[in-house]
Amino acid sequence: MRNTPIDYTIVKEKIEASGIPVVGKAKIREIVKLVNEIEQATGDKFIRMEMGVPGLPPAEVGVNAEIQALRDGVASKYPMIDGIPELKTEISRFVKNYLDLDVNEQGCIPTVGSMQGGFAAFMVAGRRDVKKDTILFIDPGFPVQKQQLNVLGMKYETFDVYNYRGEKLREKLESYLKKGNISTIIYSNPNNPSWICFTESELQIIGEMSNKYDVVIMEDLAYFAMDFRQDLSQPGVAPFQATVGKYTDNYMLLISSSKSFSYAGQRIGMMVISDTLYKRRFADLKNYYSSDEFGYSMIYGALYALSSGTSHSAQYGLCAILKAVNNGEFNFIEDVKIYGNRANRMKKLFIDNGFKFVYDMDDDKPLADGFYFTVSYPGLGGDELLEELVYYGISAIALGTTGSERTEGLRACVSQIREEQFADLEYRLKRFDEDH
Ligand SMILES: Cc1ncc(COP(=O)(O)O)c(C=O)c1O
Repeated sequence: MRNTPIDYTIVKEKIEASGIPVVGKAKIREIVKLVNEIEQATGDKFIRMEMGVPGLPPAEVGVNAEIQALRDGVASKYPMIDGIPELKTEISRFVKNYLDLDVNEQGCIPTVGSMQGGFAAFMVAGRRDVKKDTILFIDPGFPVQKQQLNVLGMKYETFDVYNYRGEKLREKLESYLKKGNISTIIYSNPNNPSWICFTESELQIIGEMSNKYDVVIMEDLAYFAMDFRQDLSQPGVAPFQATVGKYTDNYMLLISSSKSFSYAGQRIGMMVISDTLYKRRFADLKNYYSSDEFGYSMIYGALYALSSGTSHSAQYGLCAILKAVNNGEFNFIEDVKIYGNRANRMKKLFIDNGFKFVYDMDDDKPLADGFYFTVSYPGLGGDELLEELVYYGISAIALGTTGSERTEGLRACVSQIREEQFADLEYRLKRFDEDH
């Protein structure tokens, strides 16, 4: 029996009753359930850092446009699979304004979240050449994407980028690509879970590898423009969100509206296929689809089969958000910057109480303060650390579940922490440090 900030006996009992053999190996939703139960049994509120959900209200301009669209009767009509024309126009403008890339409206397609965009992308990019039957993850990454490949029965390989930053990335990528079996490389940038942001020279290396080995790059921009070290907020004005699209034409982008516009509940995201890739023809696509054209297969093959398009009203919502952003009337980055400020303060509390950062640098710059950060505590493995922290009223996920080799680390998400919880966080971390 120990004296911990959250009642030791109850926590122990709930962990045992949960049936989770090792808390550190639990999936995010399993941790959520466990912590809900402990909160309910003890009446204590946790510092909840396990789940990457937006902690802000949705972009209002989107909500209003959706309500109007519903009143206008869109709910009874099937939307076009490739999206309503006005949304396609705004996505194309957005890509020009914030990435400085020119993409034809044809390749700007709404999807049911980036989740579906990724699934469809695997179904087409991963099936375009029978010899290239494997997807390469630049990890750490978002575990559900591997689950998607398992569901599809597709193969993947992965490496942790931790030891291969900068020029070292080239040789590491080449060691996979020269085998000839890789169809697609996927990574998120900023990265979930580590919050590393690739530098321009790393993106250039990825682009060059894509050209040299004819590999499609799936760039997952789920945290679009959330590298707050630079002001990316002005439409059409540099600096822009960094992208591999500057270095290869063999790219697809997945742009989520969940975090940048706090629009997760509407399950709408954007898939953007470069003009060149859209038009490319791959004979092996005919094994699955009626056409050998990449873009056609995506829309009338994959997306048709998956959901026949994206919620009609949500398309009007996203369209209104993008229009306001593109016209310079809505500075979405100003709204989400709060995550960066919060991360800055939380990181300091962890470091002051004996924790260390796991992923800490982009080249010579400290990582940005953003949606996630990663920490470890000397002498404890990640599984052990996660379980111990539960007794101190702090929840997170273990990096081991994300393809990271840094299994001593945890991912902390800042989005759900409220101002009035900082004192609790400080007290609990101090107690943890004293006890360990
Ligand atoms: C890296 C990454 N990709 C994709 C997604 C899914 O995005 P969406 O909510 O648009 O489906 C997330 C959500 O957390 C994510 O972190």
